[in-house]
Amino acid sequence: MDIWSDLKAHHAAKSGRSILSLFDAPGRVEAFSRQSDGLLFDFSKTRIDEGALSLLLELARVSGVEARREAMFTGEKINETEGRAVLHTALRAPGGDVRVDGQNVIPGVLETRARMAQFAQAVRSGEIAGSGGRYTDVVNIGIGGSDLGPAMATLALAPYHDGPRLHYVSNVDGAHINDTLQGIDPKTTLVIVASKTFTTIETMTNAETARAWMAAEVADPASQFAALSSATDKTAAFGIDPSRVFGFEDWVGGRYSLWGPIGLGLMIAVGPEDFAEFLSGGHAMDTHFREADLADNLPVLLALVGIWHNQVEGHATRAVLPYDQRLSRLPAYLQQLEMESNGKRVAMDGSDLATDSGPIVWGEPGTNGQHAFYQLIHQGTRVVPCEFLVAAEGHEPGLAHHHRLLLANCLAQSEALMRGRSLEEAREIMAAKGLDGAELDRQARHRVFPGNRPSTTLMYRKLTPFVLGQIIALYEHRVFVEGVILGINSFDQWGVELGKELAKALEPVLSGDADGADKDGSTRALVAFAQSVRNGA
Ligand code: F6P
Repeated sequence: MDIWSDLKAHHAAKSGRSILSLFDAPGRVEAFSRQSDGLLFDFSKTRIDEGALSLLLELARVSGVEARREAMFTGEKINETEGRAVLHTALRAPGGDVRVDGQNVIPGVLETRARMAQFAQAVRSGEIAGSGGRYTDVVNIGIGGSDLGPAMATLALAPYHDGPRLHYVSNVDGAHINDTLQGIDPKTTLVIVASKTFTTIETMTNAETARAWMAAEVADPASQFAALSSATDKTAAFGIDPSRVFGFEDWVGGRYSLWGPIGLGLMIAVGPEDFAEFLSGGHAMDTHFREADLADNLPVLLALVGIWHNQVEGHATRAVLPYDQRLSRLPAYLQQLEMESNGKRVAMDGSDLATDSGPIVWGEPGTNGQHAFYQLIHQGTRVVPCEFLVAAEGHEPGLAHHHRLLLANCLAQSEALMRGRSLEEAREIMAAKGLDGAELDRQARHRVFPGNRPSTTLMYRKLTPFVLGQIIALYEHRVFVEGVILGINSFDQWGVELGKELAKALEPVLSGDADGADKDGSTRALVAFAQSVRNGA
């Protein structure tokens, strides 16, 4: 596509300019930030200028983002490698008519949502209880999309959490379930088995362990289990009563499933009303994404800034840095959302991708990250575009001074990344400390910050259920736009299959039931070492 070459040429022609110098032109911030419904996205501290932005918007247009967006919202089967529609947006719709194979899916969504609300309310009120009385604890067993979303959101909405305690178990490592179940009472614990397929080995192994744990003290353990799954035959075989099974269709991808039954744990934690607010926030973002011009469209702009940094400037990673302790699981959640969606080397038509795939996403909350990896971000040889997220206001009025410090740190980081510190400035600092000669030069060089490092900031009023819904839907649509531009199917995940198959074949080798003769030398040696330890050698 010509626009890619135009973008690269534009970048090459302008790369000598500093980001800071772009602010010499009046109106930089106004032109390179957007607001929608209480969210402010500032991308002025990047090297994107008018020319780059218009090329990027043109790229979105010629890639067919608008037509593909409509196809997604109207239930076309845009997940072409699996022959499925992509309708997580229907899970947060207040109503309407969205058809898959001629059938309106909305009535089913609303019915399931109402059943979830009834169940969640009954668990919260004690009307539905365990053998020992009102539920004090809920253990959600799931992995990937059946864990990361609800676990992230439950933590994010801690100020609204007035239901039973929520625990999330994902890892097949026995340590996870062991440590979680210790100290909680099986007689007052509800176990939710969350698995779209109900075949995922980690989840099913943990579910069986939880059932055995409960069976030791509860006469009818299955009565304290609920399931969130598309596979109702399998939930029935596990012994879970259909009244406690909440299903969803194949048009909801695992990593997009938080809005429906997979969000049951969150709904029990914060209550159906706050959960409805969360859905409203997601729906508001859907409306914005569907209706706003590309040039004012937040998901489109986030995607284009990402494309600029990754595919045009060539920065392979992006740091997500929420200055919001309650969003500490957001980077992990986004790793699945972005990397499972757009980490692909083949385009929709089976050809090799013409560009790099989506970025490596990583991060930790600020200010903690500042005392860990920011050293590399500021002075390392590689440039890491940073994405800051921060609320204008915290939830703790009595601790407003903490929030001021948090905000000051967040804004200072993006300023420091852009501005840097020159050798001259560093020399002055060293001279003021009394150094001179060769030692002054040596010490000053260590204190230089190259600056000119790009970042964006997403600021929101306060992390309410509505705002969380907006933010998560914003990221979902950003991934979608990026996938369309790269020509990727963002909704399959074939790359996770090979490891699963090999793990299945290796288990009997580890237990000694198979000889593993077909395995490579390294794998055989690692198996032998583990076996020798187990056998006490
Ligand atoms: O990691 C692969 C994957 O299929 C994810 O896409 C999904 O979120 C996760 O496994 C869990 O799947 P399930 O909900 O079917 O247990």
